[in-house]
Amino acid sequence: MYKLPVIVFSLTSLLFVADLSIAKDTTTLQLPPESLSQWYKPENKRQVWLHTMFRLRRSMQAIESYAADNNQPNMNKWFTKLEQDYLKISEMVPEWKNEIKPRLLPELQLFIDSGDTPRIRKTLQMIQRTCNDCHDKYQPLATAIYRSPGYDKIKIKDLNGKASNYDDQMEELSRTVNHVLIALEDNRNDHALQASKKLGQQLNLLGDSCQQCHKDDPVPQERILGTGLKKKLNSLQADIKNNRVKESRKLMGEIGVMVCARCHNTHRILSDLRNTLLD
Ligand code: HEC
Ligand code: HEC
Ligand code: HEC
Repeated sequence: MYKLPVIVFSLTSLLFVADLSIAKDTTTLQLPPESLSQWYKPENKRQVWLHTMFRLRRSMQAIESYAADNNQPNMNKWFTKLEQDYLKISEMVPEWKNEIKPRLLPELQLFIDSGDTPRIRKTLQMIQRTCNDCHDKYQPLATAIYRSPGYDKIKIKDLNGKASNYDDQMEELSRTVNHVLIALEDNRNDHALQASKKLGQQLNLLGDSCQQCHKDDPVPQERILGTGLKKKLNSLQADIKNNRVKESRKLMGEIGVMVCARCHNTHRILSDLRNTLLD
């Protein structure tokens, strides 16, 4: 289903580092096998993969800290959890069988039994290396794909009351914002006023979509589309009516940051990445 087996992000512009020996201009990230999806919502009721990972980190930390005072009963307790979850990795995603080293587990058990703290630490580090290697390769894209919501099923209406979608309404919003700015630039205040009213109506309609994800939580919507925005829209319309072009432009800039940029930072950046990966 995924078209690209490998995604290469060019980081040339970001990595202008003094020491050229560590500079790199590409990095390779791999798409996780599709079988991973069954361990995430919506295919699964819970975020099973992620919780397995959290438990692994906790077990590693527990064994390491109990090794310091050679607390064998507690090390054994956490070893059982570590073993179970570590082996589960390749049961859950068979394609990742070679990413783990199960033989390290009996070795760790042996050193716990003999209370050999330095070797316990060493083996934990070797296990940790298998964690890190897989994370370096797969974690960023797995996170982008499975932990960001999709917007294609979100219901939203256009100004005529017709069913529309996020993509089209975003285009419309962008056109309306530019309509206001062009009219201000060309001193067509009646057009600017009309367009600013349209912007308010479109943002109201967009507001109806927030609850589809932010169920029973009015705070996110209030933060971006609440009284702060209403005040700004009122001032904008007063400024346009009174021919205060410079102030009007400034307010449009503020609305752009407060509404569009702020919402895009949490929603759009990940959504664009996710869509690219799943196309
Ligand atoms: C929910 C908060 C939210 C707000 C508020 C918001 N956007 Fe967006 N915007 C998104 C999301 C999510 C996407 C990506 C949509 C997708 O992936 O289908 C997006 C995408 C876009 C796009 C790209 C559309 C495309 O076809 O790829 C434009 C242009 C855009 N927004 C303009 C705006 C403007 C202008 C404003 C402010 C007037 C605004 N947006 C306010 C969430 C928001
Ligand atoms: C075969 C691949 C693989 C191995 C081996 C692996 N992980 Fe992961 N791990 C992942 C992937 C993929 C993610 C990203 C999951 C996500 O973001 O939803 C992840 C995420 C995590 C996270 C979540 C990070 C965060 O805060 O979001 C923790 C913690 C973690 N792993 C711990 C471990 C530990 C500890 C080990 C070794 C004992 C380990 N993992 C071994 C693939 C692996
Ligand atoms: C497709 C699902 C989806 C839609 C639709 C959506 N959001 Fe979000 N939003 C999220 C997710 C996921 C997060 C990050 C986790 C969280 O905070 O719940 C988030 C985070 C936020 C945050 C930052 C965290 C917070 O609670 O303050 C704000 C603000 C926000 N959204 C506002 C909005 C507004 C306003 C709308 C409607 C215009 C909207 N969202 C529509 C999924 C969505």
